[in-house]
Amino acid sequence: PRSIYLSRHGESMHNVEGRIGGDTDLSNRGLQYRDELANYINSQNIPHLRVWTSWLKRTLQTASKIKAPQERWKALNEIDAGVCEELTYAEIKEKYPADFEARDLDKLTYRYPRGESYEDLIARLEPVIMELERQANVLVVAHQAVLRCLLAYFMDKPLEALPYIHVPLHTVIKLTPVAYGCKVEYVDLQV
Ligand code: G3H
Repeated sequence: PRSIYLSRHGESMHNVEGRIGGDTDLSNRGLQYRDELANYINSQNIPHLRVWTSWLKRTLQTASKIKAPQERWKALNEIDAGVCEELTYAEIKEKYPADFEARDLDKLTYRYPRGESYEDLIARLEPVIMELERQANVLVVAHQAVLRCLLAYFMDKPLEALPYIHVPLHTVIKLTPVAYGCKVEYVDLQV
């Protein structure tokens, strides 16, 4: 059976500072994950593996040492936080207190001013999911909010739970379809 492998990008400079969005490079730890991820994936000899990344530097850098054909999907870019891009959560709370609270009350439908909601993200990911359903082995290197949507779809999680699904950094999540649903394995690469 084929598997879908999911990974967040390695730790980025914005991750280090607790900033959301943006398009920063990997940190030193992130670069270590790039190497560990390549060692792991390359050593698995996964038949006909394809690697899909977003258009953001941190996912391209994370996948850069993997020996397999790669494709870029803009639809895999992280949720657009609009006016809150590149802020920390503390800064969002201070500058946009009403938004901060509204998001907390309904994280699924809350749309960042001039940005996106999780619902928007689900719609944007529809073509990605359609294509994933048709493919053999694929490694998707993307972002936390995006991977929450993919996991919710493949693991049949309720929509209300989707924005809170835990997607650990520096971990490969391997999904393998079985009779009903998907088997899920977490491979912690210990960076
Ligand atoms: O914006 C970046 C995060 O990956 C999404 O986190 O939806 O829990 O704020 P959040």
